[in-house]
Amino acid sequence: MLDIAPSILAADFTRLGQQVSDALATGVKRIHVDVMDGRFVPNISMGPFVVKWIKPLVAKAGAILETHLMIVEPEKYIHDFVKAGADLVTVHQEACPHLHRTLQQIRELGAKVGVALNPATPLVMLEEVLGMVDLVLVMTVNPGFGGQEFIPESLSKIARCRKMLAEHKQPHVDIEVDGGITAETIAPASRNGATVFVAGTSVFGGKASVADNIATLRNAVGS
Ligand code: DX5
Ligand code: ZN
Repeated sequence: MLDIAPSILAADFTRLGQQVSDALATGVKRIHVDVMDGRFVPNISMGPFVVKWIKPLVAKAGAILETHLMIVEPEKYIHDFVKAGADLVTVHQEACPHLHRTLQQIRELGAKVGVALNPATPLVMLEEVLGMVDLVLVMTVNPGFGGQEFIPESLSKIARCRKMLAEHKQPHVDIEVDGGITAETIAPASRNGATVFVAGTSVFGGKASVADNIATLRNAVGS
């Protein structure tokens, strides 16, 4: 089944628990928490506190809670997010002068390891650490806000990322796409090699229910 990761950035926070439960009830295996510090990106979102509160819902459903750290100096906060319940921690290559050590730190804390690239950052920046990660997050918008348009050039980057992983004998590593994933963009992203699909606005936005929105995304790819 398509691995959709609803991003709670777009959820209605007056009923966050219900929104998360509605998404989990559709069988999604991940909930995506977008963490922003107002420095790495021009927006401030949420911290370990939110992870702590939704963790029981996610765990009960047998899903994983993944945190996308769009923050500077993520090495200072990884422990707090794992302690709060993050099962997977993704840091931005652009925020990590000592990326190898930071990825080791995530692994040593017992979480799965993700690394993210902004649209302008070349894939080659990950070449030396591909054997250390469980997931590569290819940003398909410039990070900081939900509801943006998918950057079309991302499709080639996704395909080249899949090729690079194969060449480095890491075919099992997930490629996650994040930003502007809709019924129109999810199929091309999947065809080019993406395996995990972050979706905020297309899951929690609009008038349709969360269940209907997720079904629309699944139907767009035929699963
Ligand atoms: C970075 C955030 C957003 C969010 C998804 O800005 O990571 O991409 O998760 O946003 P939507 O699905 O609303 O484009
Ligand atoms: Zn994200």
